[in-house]
Amino acid sequence: MKKSGVIAIDGPAGSGKSTVAKEVAHRLGFLYIDTGAMYRALTLKAINKGMDFSDNEALVELSKNTDIELKESGDSLKVYLDKKDVSHKIRSMEVTTKVKLLASLKDVRENMVKLQRKLGSLSSGAVLEGRDIGTVVFPNAAYKFYLDASFQTRVERRFRELKEKGFSISPEEIEADVRNRDASDMTRKVAPLKKAEDAKVIDTTNMTVEEVAGKILEIVKKWHTSFLALF
Ligand code: DC
Repeated sequence: MKKSGVIAIDGPAGSGKSTVAKEVAHRLGFLYIDTGAMYRALTLKAINKGMDFSDNEALVELSKNTDIELKESGDSLKVYLDKKDVSHKIRSMEVTTKVKLLASLKDVRENMVKLQRKLGSLSSGAVLEGRDIGTVVFPNAAYKFYLDASFQTRVERRFRELKEKGFSISPEEIEADVRNRDASDMTRKVAPLKKAEDAKVIDTTNMTVEEVAGKILEIVKKWHTSFLALF
């Protein structure tokens, strides 16, 4: 199968994927695609509409009729839901706890994956991060990474991240959320979080963002000499 110009970065919540993916994309001049933000945006829409989260058909229908856009703005990524900037709102605890209900639906995922493939193929190079990028969305990605870290480190990172964004959540709530999401992300029937066979695992527990990004860039350079032109 022909390799695409995609770098796939998967891993559990708090493994450092988003920050690292953003940095790698920035250093390569690639498009950065946060696929979790897409599931979150859709979840926010369902919450705003007061939808019943057990009505799978209605949720699938919603995923067909929703416009989600990602736009880079300086150092951050702006997420637009039906043309409205929802970048902050999608990080709320309500969205975070409910997103799994949508993310476990096969047809919802199909619609999201279509959009992710379109975005990833439009650009000459893209870094996509999520849970199923290397296994489902871009199984032919040129480079695949699976980031992981100790449970405690992941909880601490999530806590710091949410505090910085102005959400007041206790460490206990964060710990419960990470535990629940690990369980649902890894055990769901459709596209569960797992390492692609050909993905390189990086344990980020004791590494800085710069170190992880540096390691990825070093591997990318080693694997494919044509990428040298980018540095
Ligand atoms: O990366 P994140 O925490 O923003 O993702 C939010 C949720 O979306 C996560 O708990 C699982 C789901 N997700 C998914 O199922 N598949 C992806 N490719 C990305 C995220």
